[in-house]
Amino acid sequence: MSERDGTILVTGATGSTGSALVRELVARGAPVTAMVRGTSSTAPQGAATVVADFDDAASLAAALRGVRAAYLVTPSSERAQEQQERFVEVAAAQGVEHLVVLSQYASVEDSPVRFLRYHAAVERRVRELGVGHTFLRPNLYFQGLLAFADMIREQGRFMAPIGDARVSAVDVRDIAAVAAVVLTEPGHVGRSYEITGPTAVTHEEIATAIGAATGRPVEFLDVPPEAFAAALRGVLPDWQVDGLLEDYAHYARGEAARVFPSVAEVTGTPARDVATFARDHAAAFGG
Ligand SMILES: NC(=O)c1ccc[n+]([C@@H]2O[C@H](COP(=O)([O-])OP(=O)(O)OC[C@H]3O[C@@H](n4cnc5c(N)ncnc54)[C@H](OP(=O)(O)O)[C@@H]3O)[C@@H](O)[C@H]2O)c1
Repeated sequence: MSERDGTILVTGATGSTGSALVRELVARGAPVTAMVRGTSSTAPQGAATVVADFDDAASLAAALRGVRAAYLVTPSSERAQEQQERFVEVAAAQGVEHLVVLSQYASVEDSPVRFLRYHAAVERRVRELGVGHTFLRPNLYFQGLLAFADMIREQGRFMAPIGDARVSAVDVRDIAAVAAVVLTEPGHVGRSYEITGPTAVTHEEIATAIGAATGRPVEFLDVPPEAFAAALRGVLPDWQVDGLLEDYAHYARGEAARVFPSVAEVTGTPARDVATFARDHAAAFGG
């Protein structure tokens, strides 16, 4: 017997979706263990913690012993596929019944977008191993705009190479809400959910919503990919900058505009819209 028998293990528990998911599971009274990298990492309150690292298979095996279900998310890096496949293989060996994998909207293995290729490859590995699974495939996170919060506060603008394309962007809290239901209620094994907001919005509309929420005008600048890349080089690893350019080219082609009803269908509550996101984060944007 392990002290974690029957628990739900949440990886990325200090990150954006994982921390929101731990809060949801704690609120539901579900047995939850937050996987963190170091003993000093702060996991959301009310959860047990276990220390493990995606680069250390032995630590993953110890963390997964006795676990019933697990939520898998890693940062999007050059090593994400390798790290996620390692986790999946260890989870299969430990007899985990249900893996809930954070993938991405429109993931396919022949995509021109590297993020979509690696997520699709991980999904394939999960299927090959025959582990019970649910794939969560969210579109662009509204919370990604928080990376521009300083710029919006200080200069009243933000930028992206996306033109006037619509994207059915989604609030991270809704991804966590879907994950919490999928992990605690029956009927979701073997399913894939594209997770989107309630409408597809342009970045101009996002700027207007943030302006309305903060009471200060916000301008959206459509910039060429080269200018966007130049602003990010040195801040993010090159692999990720190039991946973001591929991602924005995919958005700009209008390939991420479809709206799916999964948030409302799975959770019983409509997905949050851009106005709600902007209102709830108005302080960060200078409101
Ligand atoms: N951003 C978007 O618009 C978007 C859209 C769709 C899908 N996605 C997908 O979402 C995923 C990122 O999700 P997220 O935003 O929830 O993650 P996140 O906020 O980047 O958090 C990453 C988590 O992973 C942990 N971590 C990092 N390296 C680790 C290691 N070696 N061992 C164990 N834990 C480690 C971090 O812990 P520390 O606190 O220790 O660093 C953190 O808790 C990516 O796969 C991306 O492709 C993103």
